[in-house]
Amino acid sequence: MIPITTITEGYAEHVAECQRRWERALDAEGFDAALIHAGSLVYGFLDDHHYPFRANPHFLAWLPLTHHHDSALLVRPGERPLLYYYQPDDYWYLPPADPESWWADEFEVRSERDPDAWRDAARGERTALVGDAPALAALDGGPRLNPARLINRLHLLRTRKTAYEIACMTEASRRAAVAHRAAEEAFREGESEYRIHQRYCEACGLLDEELPYGNIVALNAHGAVLHYQRRARSAPQAIHSFLIDAGATQQGYAADVTRTYAARPGTFADLIEAMDGIQLELCAAIRVGVDYRDLHLDAHLRIAGVLHAAGLITVTAEEAVETGLSGVFFPHGLGHFLGLQTHDVGGLIADAEGTEIPRPDGHPYLRLTRILEPGNVLTVEPGLYFIASLLERWRRDGQAGAVDWARVEALSGHGGVRIEDNVLVTDGAPVNLTREAFALTA
Ligand code: GLY
Ligand code: MN
Ligand code: MN
Repeated sequence: MIPITTITEGYAEHVAECQRRWERALDAEGFDAALIHAGSLVYGFLDDHHYPFRANPHFLAWLPLTHHHDSALLVRPGERPLLYYYQPDDYWYLPPADPESWWADEFEVRSERDPDAWRDAARGERTALVGDAPALAALDGGPRLNPARLINRLHLLRTRKTAYEIACMTEASRRAAVAHRAAEEAFREGESEYRIHQRYCEACGLLDEELPYGNIVALNAHGAVLHYQRRARSAPQAIHSFLIDAGATQQGYAADVTRTYAARPGTFADLIEAMDGIQLELCAAIRVGVDYRDLHLDAHLRIAGVLHAAGLITVTAEEAVETGLSGVFFPHGLGHFLGLQTHDVGGLIADAEGTEIPRPDGHPYLRLTRILEPGNVLTVEPGLYFIASLLERWRRDGQAGAVDWARVEALSGHGGVRIEDNVLVTDGAPVNLTREAFALTA
């Protein structure tokens, strides 16, 4: 069982678990310490403006310090982790606030004015260096800079979320659900993609750069562009549909949620309902011991069943999967691990060597091939799209008669359907963090 906790109450045990995990991983790889650097600001070429800061996720896994560039953490077996907390004397930019006791009590904290204050602690031959800051690379650490086996071990450990991490993701889901409701309302009012996005950010209280990924806010045919980012400033003349893939973060942990809406009842609304039905069935199948590859293949069969029932394809669901036709309508993976990274780590590897667990033939975009374990958090996001280039290719090179082109044409202005939830694997029934969060907003 995964204990239930709150973010602040679960934090001490989370840090204790990080300590245990790092001690085991360092020992297994022959290191006696690790220096984890938060990362530094990265500037545009020939410019004095920097890109939005994204902390090293291995640093964030220990500390809820999302905006704290140039801090660093020293981890040593049997000792309290030592945080070099970078607080420059600066009047151009606001330095980080003083540490708060709910997290700082778990560390030895040194407030530093010098961004390289950690450097002496990083010199030991058997100190692993983890991060991508230029100052770390400048130490010329050779094989002790981001050692692949150590990183693989840590990635595998991170696939099992602690109670604190689950509390963070539960809160991220709540924020996302509130904002998704606001976005749907804006859509119903006929707003543009740009305005819907503003309404979303306002409702979840996050800046653009604090979102886990660029919101996909797509009206009509834009829903068929899988990573659509444009956000048109004016609404189309006739609005048919709305696909929104938008998340939220809490202490750096992500929610990744998609909903699709029809402007009015009809064939497309029916398609959404059918996809929602199979999405829930797929979520319910999330159990310890399930091979996610099987679930992905099962999703193909179910989506092909929806296509067949809607008269969009003329062949059986089985034939559509066998011939690759289902992939014309569903050309991405069923989902991925979720955590500090939207496409979280460890989804494709078996061991410290990084041995890849192969994807099924013909499914190059699947990001999760593992057998599910308790504490995994993953997405379930079946989709069905009318993508002109893929359909054209099929008409030219595939079995053209397997598609009812007139029906496809009639729906293509709607873009597509995707429904995406975030699900926690437990020893028993799965917990659908997204549906629970939406239920709270009802
Ligand atoms: N929002 C990116 C994804 O769903 O994977
Ligand atoms: Mn998504
Ligand atoms: Mn996703």
